[in-house]
Formats: sequence, C-alpha cells, structure tokens
Amino acid sequence: MTRTCPFLVGIACFAILGCVTVVQSQVTLKVTEGNSTCIKAELSASFSITYNTANGTRTVMVPLPGSAVVGVASSCGGDGRSPSLVALFGDGHALGLSFSSNVSLYSVANLTLQYNLSDVSTFPEANSTDVVTVETTSVGMVARVNTTYRCISASPVIVGGATVTFSNVTMEAYMTGDDLSPNESVCTADQSFTTAPPPSPSTTTAPPPPPSTTTAAPAPVPTPPGTPNQGSYSVSNSNGTVCLLARMALQLNISHFSASQNKTIQEVVNLQPNQTTSSGSCDPTSATLVLTQGSATNLSFLFTLNTTSNRYHLTGLSVVAAWSDMTAPFNTSNSSLDYLRCSLGRSYMCSSEQTLSVDQNFSLNTFHLQVQPFGITRGQFAQAEECQLDQDSMLIPIVVGAALAGLVLIVLIAYLIGRKRSHAGYQTI
Ligand SMILES: *[C@@H]1O[C@H](CO)[C@@H](O)[C@H](O)[C@H]1NC(C)=O
Ligand SMILES: *[C@@H]1O[C@H](CO)[C@@H](O)[C@H](O)[C@H]1NC(C)=O
Ligand SMILES: *[C@@H]1O[C@H](CO)[C@@H](O)[C@H](O)[C@H]1NC(C)=O
Ligand SMILES: *[C@@H]1O[C@H](CO)[C@@H](O)[C@H](O)[C@H]1NC(C)=O
Ligand SMILES: *[C@@H]1O[C@H](CO)[C@@H](O)[C@H](O)[C@H]1NC(C)=O
Ligand SMILES: *[C@@H]1O[C@H](CO)[C@@H](O)[C@H](O)[C@H]1NC(C)=O
Ligand SMILES: *[C@@H]1O[C@H](CO)[C@@H](O)[C@H](O)[C@H]1NC(C)=O
Ligand SMILES: *[C@@H]1O[C@H](CO)[C@@H](O)[C@H](O)[C@H]1NC(C)=O
Ligand SMILES: *[C@@H]1O[C@H](CO)[C@@H](O)[C@H](O)[C@H]1NC(C)=O
Ligand SMILES: *[C@@H]1O[C@H](CO)[C@@H](O)[C@H](O)[C@H]1NC(C)=O
Ligand SMILES: *[C@@H]1O[C@H](CO)[C@@H](O)[C@H](O)[C@H]1NC(C)=O
Ligand SMILES: *[C@@H]1O[C@H](CO)[C@@H](O)[C@H](O)[C@H]1NC(C)=O
Repeated sequence: MTRTCPFLVGIACFAILGCVTVVQSQVTLKVTEGNSTCIKAELSASFSITYNTANGTRTVMVPLPGSAVVGVASSCGGDGRSPSLVALFGDGHALGLSFSSNVSLYSVANLTLQYNLSDVSTFPEANSTDVVTVETTSVGMVARVNTTYRCISASPVIVGGATVTFSNVTMEAYMTGDDLSPNESVCTADQSFTTAPPPSPSTTTAPPPPPSTTTAAPAPVPTPPGTPNQGSYSVSNSNGTVCLLARMALQLNISHFSASQNKTIQEVVNLQPNQTTSSGSCDPTSATLVLTQGSATNLSFLFTLNTTSNRYHLTGLSVVAAWSDMTAPFNTSNSSLDYLRCSLGRSYMCSSEQTLSVDQNFSLNTFHLQVQPFGITRGQFAQAEECQLDQDSMLIPIVVGAALAGLVLIVLIAYLIGRKRSHAGYQTI
C-alpha cells in the first residue's frame, strides 16, 4: 500500500504539501473459468475510510493499487452462486462485486469492502486490529445484457464508514466472448457530463437505475430551506489536542438529475448540525475537516498554510451526496480554490452569507462562519479577522451614524451662529 492522504481529492493529492501524490492506477481484472472469461473489468478506484483511533476518528484515502489481483473467491457463478469478482490488494484488503441478471439487464447486486486495520502503514494509530467487512446493495451499476458497462465519471458508492469512488470504468459480466462487447451501456453521470438529451430507447443509453434508487417516493418539488442552523465542529490530532475549530451554518446547492421529476434540478439542502459528525486530520501545513451527515452527505474541507506568507486559506472542497431524489450519488471536488483567506494565529470570521462556488453543479453557502485550521491554543479560537462582507455591512451603520452625527452638528452650528448673529444685530441697533 502507498502512503495515505486526507480524504479530499485522490487525483491530485497536493504535491506541495509533501503528501505523496496518489496516482490512481487503471487496474484490469478478469475472472475466467476453464478457457472462457466471464467477467472483465478495467477501472480505477479509491477508498476513503474512516476508522477509530484511541483519540477519535481518522479518515484515510487509499487507492486500489495496480498490483491488485483477482482472488480465488471470484467465480463465474453456477451451483447457486452468483458471479463475482474479488480484487485482493495490500495486506489483507479486498473489494468484491457480485452480479445478478435477468433476461435484459445485469447489475452489481452487492459490493463488499474488506480492510485490515492491522495494516499500520495504511491505518496509523487504529485502536483495533480487526479485519472489517462492510457491504452494500446500493451500487447503481446496471447495464443491458451483452453490453459493456461504461462510466468514466467518478461515481461514489457509500459502504459502511467508507466511500468507494470508481472512475474510468469499463466492465462486463456474463460475457459471451473473450473481450468486452463493443456495445456499451453508458452510466447517467457520463450522460449529464455532456448535458446529453434524455435517454431514448433506440440508442446506446443508460439503463434504468437499480430498484433501490427508484423505489423512493416521488418527492414534492423541493421548497427552499430556511437559514441553516450553526454547528460547532472540531478536529483533534493524535495526542488529543484540538487542532481545528469551526463554527458554521452550511447550505449545499447541488444541480442533479431528479428521479421524481425526470429532469435536472437545483436542490438546496441545509446541513443538520445535530445529525452531523466531524473528523479530519491536521498536519503542519495542511488540515482537513470532514463533515458527515448520516450516509447521505459527506463534505470535506482542505485548508493549507503558506509558510512564506504565514497565511492560510481554503484550497479544497469535496462533496459526496446520496440524496433520495438522485438517480446516482453526486460527487465532485475542486482542489484549486482560494477562499477564507486569513493570517496564521487568527481565526477567519464571516457572519454574512458567503457562496463558495466549487463547480457549475455545486456551491456551498456559509452563514455565521468562524474557522481556524491552524495555530489553535488551549482549544479556543484566536482573535478573529472579519471578512470584507462583514466589514462592508458594518460600514453602512457607521456611515449612517456618521451622517446623522454630521447633520446634528450642522444644525447645532447653524443655531449657534444664528443666535450669535441675532444677538450681535440687536447690540448694533
Ligand atoms: C482450453 O484450450 C486448450 C487449448 O487452447 C484446449 O486444449 C482445452 O481443451 C480447452 N479447455 C476447455 C475446457 O475448453
Ligand atoms: C492484516 O495485516 C497484518 C499486518 O500487516 C497481517 O499480519 C495479517 O496477515 C493481515 N490479515 C489478513 C487477513 O490478511
Ligand atoms: C430486470 O431487472 C430490472 C431491475 O433489476 C427490472 O427493472 C426489469 O424490469 C427486469 N426485467 C425483466 C424482464 O424482468
Ligand atoms: C454479497 O456478496 C457476498 C459475497 O459475494 C455474499 O457473501 C453476500 O451474501 C452477498 N449479500 C447479499 C445481500 O447479496
Ligand atoms: C476504539 O475507539 C472507539 C471510539 O473511539 C470505541 O468505541 C471502541 O470501543 C474502541 N475499540 C477498541 C478495541 O478499543
Ligand atoms: C446475448 O448473447 C448471447 C450469445 O451471443 C445470446 O444467446 C443472447 O440471446 C444475447 N442476449 C441478449 C439479451 O441480447
Ligand atoms: C500534540 O502534538 C502537537 C503536534 O502534533 C504538538 O504541537 C503539541 O505540543 C502536542 N501536545 C501535547 C500536549 O503533547
Ligand atoms: C491519546 O491521548 C492521550 C491523552 O489525551 C495520550 O496519553 C495518548 O498517548 C494518545 N494516544 C495516541 C495514540 O496518541
Ligand atoms: C443555487 O445555485 C444556482 C446556480 O448556481 C443559483 O442560480 C441559485 O441561486 C442558488 N441557490 C441558492 C439558494 O443559493
Ligand atoms: C423523461 O422525460 C423524457 C423527455 O423529457 C421522456 O421521453 C421520458 O419518457 C421521461 N421518462 C419518464 C420515466 O417519465
Ligand atoms: C435536529 O434539529 C432539527 C431542527 O433544529 C429538529 O427538527 C430535529 O428533530 C433534530 N433532530 C435530532 C435527531 O435531534
Ligand atoms: C506563498 O505566499 C507567497 C507570498 O505571498 C507567494 O509568493 C507564494 O506563491 C505563496 N506560495 C504558495 C504555494 O501559494
């Protein structure tokens, strides 16, 4: 296994931070029985895994290495077993996909992730040595029989406390030839990528989403939520000292394809602080805050410190959302942001609403925000540096106040001059 990096962005893991860049390898896996291949997959995958340490939780990002091999537990099915592909990697870790089909469609019925917490190079300071197995049946990979499933877009699958993000996937199960079929079933994410027209049955298009996501009751047209509640979050480092503090109210604004309305909608959802947990990590020049609301929303912030200027800022934001009205989990990240700029030794504060735009499909609205990712002493915020918006909104009452004071002064002076004049005038007469 390679070194691990914070959850955020597997693709470019911020070489500047001295964090080993996680190169996502394209892995080819084949399940054969006798002379025939029944499953073939070419894909990249990365795992974001949250585990317990003696002093809280930690999240690591692990790529599926190029050295992954097909394990003996793989099978082409038969004897009441379903066809499955099990990839083994590192020190006792495994990713399993098992398939099911009917006459027209096949799908990944079940994804299993196994990870070995004894592997200290991947899971430093884990408080357990267990081999953890987590499983989900909501995978969302469906294709027409005799076609290759293709999904270039990153597609996250939430499984237990982990998220598996697949990308660049071409895969076929129940193969009839030795090679991938030239006919493809393209995933919905790739279609919205090119803002393609809605599926039409005659061409190569995505199959309907798996039953687990379509059974959701048709949601009413989302009404805009009110102002979100403020939550307080913190991250502790390995010796238990608080190293990151945040107080903020957050609202996610995601553009996605609505299952109930059969079109792309703009959904605005508040993060509920009382259902949200925080985790993360702190390093000398980078700090990560991961907010998780149940299994539906996972939001990561990456702050970096510039040791030349002694200033920090928010450089990365990533989100995984699996909301009920989505046809597939939504995921995006941007690691070249420049928000929340502040001096080291100060906390950044912005009471006004701010919109942190991540890409054309995702933006984060923040309210009543105070954050300090570096230089926390005694578990408390340092003196705050106010954002420009707050300063501007402070300016209005000041200007109005100053104008009023000026007016009062002018009236007073006019009165005094008037009084003096009339007094003087009286004397001369
Ligand atoms: C597999 O192929 C070899 C030669 O290519 C052949 O001798 C053998 O009979 C084949 N086995 C099966 C099960 O088809
Ligand atoms: C888990 O990792 C430990 C240490 O790296 C290793 O000794 C053990 O064999 C692994 N367990 C499995 C099931 O592979
Ligand atoms: C095949 O399965 C899919 C869902 O897995 C379902 O929507 C479809 O109706 C099934 N087709 C047949 C012919 O049973
Ligand atoms: C998921 O797959 C594993 C192995 O492939 C199997 O043991 C397990 O029973 C499956 N679970 C479900 C719900 O299908
Ligand atoms: C590990 O820590 C978690 C919470 O921090 C705790 O619930 C769990 O019991 C601990 N496990 C062990 C083996 O100490
Ligand atoms: C898939 O291909 C096999 C063999 O070529 C054929 O028997 C089967 O009818 C095909 N199924 C579909 C749904 O096209
Ligand atoms: C905890 O670790 C940090 C660096 O990781 C260090 O600066 C701090 O002094 C340590 N605190 C204690 C109480 O050991
Ligand atoms: C966890 O924190 C306690 C004190 O808060 C400290 O004694 C212990 O060494 C820490 N454990 C690890 C693994 O850093
Ligand atoms: C959500 O984003 C869209 C597109 O960027 C924008 O038009 C809309 O005003 C935003 N809504 C909120 C409540 O921020
Ligand atoms: C979705 O909308 C398209 C056209 O906008 C239509 O052709 C298709 O039948 C609709 N699908 C459903 C399930 O309503
Ligand atoms: C969380 O807070 C909201 C609004 O304050 C409230 O409606 C909800 O019941 C709370 N949920 C829990 C689990 O406390
Ligand atoms: C750090 O700040 C200095 C001075 O403002 C600037 O020249 C440099 O490019 C910054 N470094 C990074 C990595 O942003």
